[in-house]
Amino acid sequence: MIIEDFMSEVGETSIREKLAACLKSNPKTLPCMFFYDQDGSELFEKITKLEEYYPPKIEIPLLRSTARKFNGELKDCDIVELGSGDCSKISVFLDEVPEESRQTIVYYPVDVSREAIEKSGRILRKKYPEMGLHGINADFLEHIENIRGKRKRLFCFFGSTIGNLTEAKAMEFLKNLNSVMNKKDRLLLGMDMVKDIDVIERAYNDSQGITARFNKNILKVTNSHLGTDFNPDDFEHVAFFNKEYSRIEMHLRAKRDLEVTSALLKESVILKKGETIHTENSHKYTPGHIRKMADAAGLFLENIYTDEKKWFSIAEMVKR
Ligand code: AVJ
Repeated sequence: MIIEDFMSEVGETSIREKLAACLKSNPKTLPCMFFYDQDGSELFEKITKLEEYYPPKIEIPLLRSTARKFNGELKDCDIVELGSGDCSKISVFLDEVPEESRQTIVYYPVDVSREAIEKSGRILRKKYPEMGLHGINADFLEHIENIRGKRKRLFCFFGSTIGNLTEAKAMEFLKNLNSVMNKKDRLLLGMDMVKDIDVIERAYNDSQGITARFNKNILKVTNSHLGTDFNPDDFEHVAFFNKEYSRIEMHLRAKRDLEVTSALLKESVILKKGETIHTENSHKYTPGHIRKMADAAGLFLENIYTDEKKWFSIAEMVKR
């Protein structure tokens, strides 16, 4: 499989600068893309299997039923999946596509992790030997303009990954995506919906503490890039639903006064006891939000596929 590379231009220096700036800001933050090193990706896979973490349990069957509705439309189509990860979601989708159609499809996994693309490539090659594969090692927020093509394309952005973006950022992202889309292209956007707050909060405060470990793992990743000496045990996992912004927020709260140092930083990072580092937002949507975002991006909302309880949606959008 060919893998196009847009990541090597993102140097370690710019990663360090980004992390240092986030830790200097007030309140302190860390970008949630740094959850996903090897350990982080494994912890996230564990999260998806937790009883409390409902999103994949709803999204997977929804992907299956949505794929069936696309029957026939996928002939001679390029499927571009943004944040393809372990390719488990697209597999569910592709299983419902007839082999004659799959023969004419080229699948483009787009991910920041080259290893994830290579691994998915091996799995998919085995499962669907008739299908074309073309990896793109890129950050979909930075490199979307580079993803151009001539054939009809289906952009897939599953898992409510868009929920990590603030509303403004999500709209900007959709606008940029719109600008690389052609007339016949389509977008399938997986989004976690607003529901009972207890259900949402439990999904991010699981009884086994896997989400807490996942959250704290970002400190280890930060240490490896920045040379800092964060000790994950000095922090407490905090996750709650912020009603005003309709999102789960994850934070790490310092258990005591801390001074974190690194030879690579001019100044040490000072945290007061109780101070937090904001590590993730996970927005939950209403049909109204979805419409508003599509409108702002200049996209036409064709359909919202959803489950019985309306816990998760796959929005289908096209160019206006
Ligand atoms: C992969 C971004 C969809 O927001 O639910 C899981 C990540 N964070 N538990 C989410 C996550 C804590 C997840 N997304």
